[in-house]
Amino acid sequence: IASHPLAYYCAELHHDQVQKVDKYLYHLRLSDQNIMDVSMRFRREMDRGLCRDTNPTAAIKMLPTFVRSTPDGTEHGDFLALDLGGTNFRVLLVKVSANGKQKVEMENQIYAIPEDLMRGHGSELFDHIAECLANFLSKLGIKDKKLPLGFTFSFPCQQTKLDESILVSWTKGFKASGVEGKDVVGMLRAAIKKRGDFDIDIVAVINDTVGTMMTCGYDDHHCEIGLIVGTGTNACYMEEMRNLQTVEGDEGRMCVNLEWGAFGDDGALDDLRTSFDREIDACSLNPGKQLFEKMISGMYMGELVRLILVKMAKDGLLFQGNTTPELLNTGQFQTSFVSAIENEKDNEGLLKAEQVLLGLGLEPSPEDCMATQQVCQVVSTRAAHLCAATLAAVLRQIRDNKAAERLRTTVGVDGSVYKNHPQFARRLHKMVRALVPDCDVRFLRSEDGSGKGAAMVTAVAQRLAKQHAE
Ligand code: GLC
Repeated sequence: IASHPLAYYCAELHHDQVQKVDKYLYHLRLSDQNIMDVSMRFRREMDRGLCRDTNPTAAIKMLPTFVRSTPDGTEHGDFLALDLGGTNFRVLLVKVSANGKQKVEMENQIYAIPEDLMRGHGSELFDHIAECLANFLSKLGIKDKKLPLGFTFSFPCQQTKLDESILVSWTKGFKASGVEGKDVVGMLRAAIKKRGDFDIDIVAVINDTVGTMMTCGYDDHHCEIGLIVGTGTNACYMEEMRNLQTVEGDEGRMCVNLEWGAFGDDGALDDLRTSFDREIDACSLNPGKQLFEKMISGMYMGELVRLILVKMAKDGLLFQGNTTPELLNTGQFQTSFVSAIENEKDNEGLLKAEQVLLGLGLEPSPEDCMATQQVCQVVSTRAAHLCAATLAAVLRQIRDNKAAERLRTTVGVDGSVYKNHPQFARRLHKMVRALVPDCDVRFLRSEDGSGKGAAMVTAVAQRLAKQHAE
């Protein structure tokens, strides 16, 4: 077939088309130099967040988590966990046993959070969470037990201890009123008390990145970084107390929640942001905020692709210049489509592109399908490389802290983009290794990190509390 004149014609056409699209997407392609530069900028932003004087105006908040140690394997007991802020809201019962071989077992249930609760009154949101918890406890027949609970709340929070967490600002798809500036533990306790049908002991609030690091740390003691690329993107790592000037004390280490999604909120990425990035931001729930996250994470990736396709169609580069109401509709191009379209196995991606475009009411030619695939590639590659840039900065920080010539470390990772996109992980790993050739980095996928992790932190906290009491 390859020697068939038509194949030759198609290849030629393909080449021309690729070049045209390439030219169009020029600003979305970042050079290795750009990526290295972003990494350097981010390292400086981390410093600004760590220092007491510059922290108040820093875009990267470097939030202390009050998690100081990873599991030592002696933890045991039954724990409840709540996981809010990812793709699903879940309630879990986690059984940790320490009899020789460590084992974690769990029951979990996904509950829906209707959109009007995500963006309505905060107290209603917490009433709903308490109701789901009550339902879960009834179902398992443990409503009369007062179990310790760990709450994975995946938003930026100011903490002064493990069981108090003040929401700085909502991110991603949440915008419930009356919660920003409040302690979410207090709000949850109040909602439970109001019901009066069960009681629990809220021991810890953690970010999902911390849960991911802790879960992976259970299996791999080198794990000192947690990374999420899902609905949102963020990371945490173990920092030396002496560098973390916003918390008293110089001894040992503490896990820091970077909240790297806010990178660029002070203009630091303006030279790299495109008109598409600005459009995404302008139409979002939180304009001007989480600008780095909006270039990367699952909540925005499909929409970025859609905006590019719309512009290309309007400029006559696609679909013979036609658009459809579906294509013009916000949110119609899901991030899961990007993953499916980039499937390289046996042209499956191209078939998927055709299917998706047909679903949007378009009549795509083979060239349209190829161009759409190319747009997906450019957007998701940029996302992977930007994540690599910030992750490399964190790795350099840890290496310098240890004054080690070579760093051997493990990154615990979770999130729908990292796990479901067929090329994302490979591209991220490759770029990280190119940026920090002197680090041996192992990437460990976390299984159920946010839920299990909350239970782990709770278990460690209880172990330490018992030790202190003795
Ligand atoms: C958003 C949140 C952050 C979370 C991340 C991944 O960036 O602000 O706290 O870790 O999403 O879920």
